[in-house]
Amino acid sequence: MNQVPVPHDLELQLPLPEGLLKILLVLLFLIHILFVNFMVGGVTLSFIFEIIGLKNKKYDALAREISGTVTVNKSLAIVLGVAPLLAINLAYTTYFYSATSLTGIAWMMVIPAVTIAFLLTYIHKYTWDKLENNKFLHLTFAFMGLILFWTIPLIFLSNVNLMLFPSRWTEVHGFIPAVLLQNVIPRYLHFMLATIAVSSLFAVGWFGRKKFDVNKHLPGFSREEIKYNFYLIAFIATLMQFIAGPLLLFTLPVYGISITVYGFILLGVLAAVLFMFLVWYEIRDNKKTIGRFFWTVILLLTGTVISMAFGRHYYRERAIEPHRQLVETKTQELYWKSEAARTRLRMGISKEPAKSAGQAGFEKNCAVCHAKETVLVGPSLNEIFELYEDYPEGIVEWSKAPEVKRGGPVMPSFAHLGDEELLEIGKYMLKAAAE
Ligand code: HEC
Repeated sequence: MNQVPVPHDLELQLPLPEGLLKILLVLLFLIHILFVNFMVGGVTLSFIFEIIGLKNKKYDALAREISGTVTVNKSLAIVLGVAPLLAINLAYTTYFYSATSLTGIAWMMVIPAVTIAFLLTYIHKYTWDKLENNKFLHLTFAFMGLILFWTIPLIFLSNVNLMLFPSRWTEVHGFIPAVLLQNVIPRYLHFMLATIAVSSLFAVGWFGRKKFDVNKHLPGFSREEIKYNFYLIAFIATLMQFIAGPLLLFTLPVYGISITVYGFILLGVLAAVLFMFLVWYEIRDNKKTIGRFFWTVILLLTGTVISMAFGRHYYRERAIEPHRQLVETKTQELYWKSEAARTRLRMGISKEPAKSAGQAGFEKNCAVCHAKETVLVGPSLNEIFELYEDYPEGIVEWSKAPEVKRGGPVMPSFAHLGDEELLEIGKYMLKAAAE
């Protein structure tokens, strides 16, 4: 941790207890990311099916139905993103802001990028008929949206990743170096696969629901076929997670990993394995009954996601812990320094830290009662100067055996300091008064 920028802590009150804020952050983030998954996965699937639809019309209708869900899910994703963004700002201010400024321009580009991406989803959705004979243009809109929807998460991800590693803050300047940190690409891959799996499961539920008129909206498909196809996509995407996941785990800097982190991840993997079995069971005998375990499937996936989210949270806590301690030490140091400066100022002594043994000795032993001009418990240095100018030895004698002279409080003896130190102190007092 050498060469790490370590600020001192901000003395700001949190609006909620820190623990509660963090639990809220994890849970609110999950809800937000669920809709982000629907949105990003939806854009991807819609694009792929529209291309397949060039040859096989029924897939064009499927692409269109999916694009209809994207705009709604996108609005929800954004609205639900505000809360976790505020929570992370509050709970990890130093870390989040540092990473934000280091990824600077890319981070700022999120705003116009999101705006344009959203406009493109609407254009894509509402020009389906109009551009029926110009599929190339229609697909170009979809593709531009796709590129943006694939880039924005990478910006977010590189930011929240960089905030975990203060030791890299001095070398990372800008978005590209932030992306090139060893674990970002595996993390991105992990995320993108999740968008496919999660949005496919959404499609199983959404287009498989009883109220959805498959014959009307998706002519050529049966309800079972829809469920089967999306289950299969979810299965394959999740299977690939068994490569992307470990890849991410092994590229993460180890110092954030703890037993707790492993525990949560293991729990998540366990739920994921059960999930895979059940989905496999559903698609293996592609019968009329497909989808009857849908809610159990969802429950298992929820289990995976929540475990992983907590694993991730504990990783984050542990990764920034050493830096937090440095900040704490630095804050303490700053506190003492400012306290000392304040005391010296109050006593009318120099604002600088002690420069000589005499000054240090004076500040330690005498400054509580003697100041330069004001009369504290004992007389001012100016007065002492009048009495002992050019005669510091007199101060030594006095301090070893103070008398009752002024009839006020009595000065304690400082004989224990010894002649040598008292002489230094005496010299300093006279010098300070003369200045
Ligand atoms: C607890 C308060 C207190 C501390 C600490 C203290 N003094 Fe004093 N000092 C006094 C008081 C009270 C007097 C006045 C005593 C009197 O005149 O009866 C005094 C008076 C003096 C005088 C004037 C003597 C004179 O001839 O009138 C000197 C010199 C002095 N102190 C030096 C020191 C030095 C040096 C130290 C630190 C090593 C020190 N004092 C620490 C309370 C203190």
